[in-house]
Amino acid sequence: MFKLHPRSVADGDDHMNVYPELSIEEVRRIRDRDHVHPEVPASGPIARGGRLSSIRDRLAAQLTSITTWPQLRTHVVAQTKALARSWDLDLLLRTYLFIPRKILRDAIREFGSQLEGKLLDVGCGSQQYREFLACKQYFGIEWSLAKRPPVVADVTQMPFRDSSFDSALCTEVLEHLPEPGRCLAEIHRVVKPGGSVFFTVPMTMYTHSEPYDFYRYTEYGLRYLLEKHGFEIVVVRRLGGVVSVMASHGISLACEAISERLDGRTTEQVQHLMLLPLSAAGSLVLYGLSRVLDGVEQRDAIGWAVLCRRKRE
Ligand SMILES: C[S@@+](CC[C@H](N)C(=O)[O-])C[C@H]1O[C@@H](n2cnc3c(N)ncnc32)[C@H](O)[C@@H]1O
Repeated sequence: MFKLHPRSVADGDDHMNVYPELSIEEVRRIRDRDHVHPEVPASGPIARGGRLSSIRDRLAAQLTSITTWPQLRTHVVAQTKALARSWDLDLLLRTYLFIPRKILRDAIREFGSQLEGKLLDVGCGSQQYREFLACKQYFGIEWSLAKRPPVVADVTQMPFRDSSFDSALCTEVLEHLPEPGRCLAEIHRVVKPGGSVFFTVPMTMYTHSEPYDFYRYTEYGLRYLLEKHGFEIVVVRRLGGVVSVMASHGISLACEAISERLDGRTTEQVQHLMLLPLSAAGSLVLYGLSRVLDGVEQRDAIGWAVLCRRKRE
């Protein structure tokens, strides 16, 4: 059963409120014990190619190894999920926030191909963007053990040597850090000179993951911070615009209001089923509209995406 969760904008799973279950001391102890160098097990090369062709190739390879009914069932479920993800149906069915999450995912699809070599996903959460990256090796760092990251550590004190990575990704993390500059300084230290780094930050998202939600960014604030910490900006991309901002707030407020009215009368699952057609249909229609009209008003945005490079000293 897919779970609708209005407060899961950037996280892609249900662990959004598991913040951070470890004290800094515990994180440091685990880091010092297990992860003192960057050579943690890597995922190996990530397949390139079109979404459909990669699914087809995987299907053909897996079908030859299926011999029992449970295997077949597992296979069909996995394939259905992969297909749903490749068409973003998972976003439509799991969250009221289809619009901002689709816009964010599309930006990562677009820029992920420029993040090469050995990549570090900073504050990786449940690594929801891993499959959209073209890097050869993927490492994720995150302090919530519940999200099962490759490396458990604080992003403001990374357990890696200088210039260990060719590129980095840092999506929807800077707003959760009281001192974002410390994380930027660490990214600058662990990425090689000239290496590409892709950031996304929210500008209009409501407060989430309380109390670990400290900032919202304008384009200028983000540019200032990145340049101050030794990054050269390559591209700045506005994510969404006036219609997508209003639509995503409208849909999530409407769904939450209906959900509150139904509280006590039906189970949570029935509520989700009842709201699903409303949120999915509303999201699709308004998403279509936002594609046409978002450019009309240039001052609003769901957030910002920036591709930059570590400056060569
Ligand atoms: C909004 S989530 C984004 C997750 C992921 N980047 C994505 O876009 O799906 C922010 C993540 O940053 C992690 N985080 C926040 N502060 C951190 C810190 N100081 N060290 C490590 N991880 C941190 C949180 O645990 C959370 O998983």
